[in-house]
Parts: sequence; structure tokens; C-alpha cells
Amino acid sequence: MADLSIKTAILRVRRGAPGETARHDDFEVPYEEGMSVLDALRWIRTHLDSTLAIRYSCINANACKTCMALVNGEVEYTCIAKLTPGVVTVEPLPKRPLIRDLVTDIVPEDEKL
Ligand code: FES
Repeated sequence: MADLSIKTAILRVRRGAPGETARHDDFEVPYEEGMSVLDALRWIRTHLDSTLAIRYSCINANACKTCMALVNGEVEYTCIAKLTPGVVTVEPLPKRPLIRDLVTDIVPEDEKL
């Protein structure tokens, strides 16, 4: 008999902008085998909180290199980082200037006009 119980992942996402007190918000996301962390973040934006700031472009081709964040303390491309059931912590890159939530300024200094 198939297991009909629904698994969930809890994304603990760091929120805030420069000058604000950072906080972590927990979002419960339905888990399906093969989901990426970016899939879960996009689900949150669609279903729970459209104000969550994230950056991505190619979604899962690992081509644009814009979706990097700390996932459970490790620098990952969120589009290829596999989601796991349970608590997953997602934070902005620590060595880049924070713009808001998970978005950081990733443009190299010598490429800015
Ligand atoms: S969304 Fe393009 S590399 Fe992750």
C-alpha cells in the first residue's frame, strides 16, 4: 500500500535588508522527491509570501550562476541543491553586500560601471 502521508520541508530563511534587524522566518513547503531548494523558494513566493527576495534566472540549468546562497551553512546553487524533508536553513552569501533577504550584490567590483 502506498504511503499517503505528505512530507514537508521547513525552510528557515533569513530575512531583512541592510540597517534592519535580521530575522529568520520558517516556511512549511510540501516536499516532493527531486525538488531543489530553489523550487521551494519559488513555491514560497507563489503561495506564502510574495515579498521574499530571491534571485535566479535559468531555474535549473546551472548556467546563470545567480542563485547562490548558504544552504545549511554551505555555499550552494539553490537550483541544484536538493531539498530534504525537515528543516533547511537558507541565508544570503556572507561575503557579499546584502541587498535584501537572500539577494546579495554579486557583481564583481571591476565589472561595475
Ligand atoms: S538559477 Fe541559474 S544557476 Fe541557479
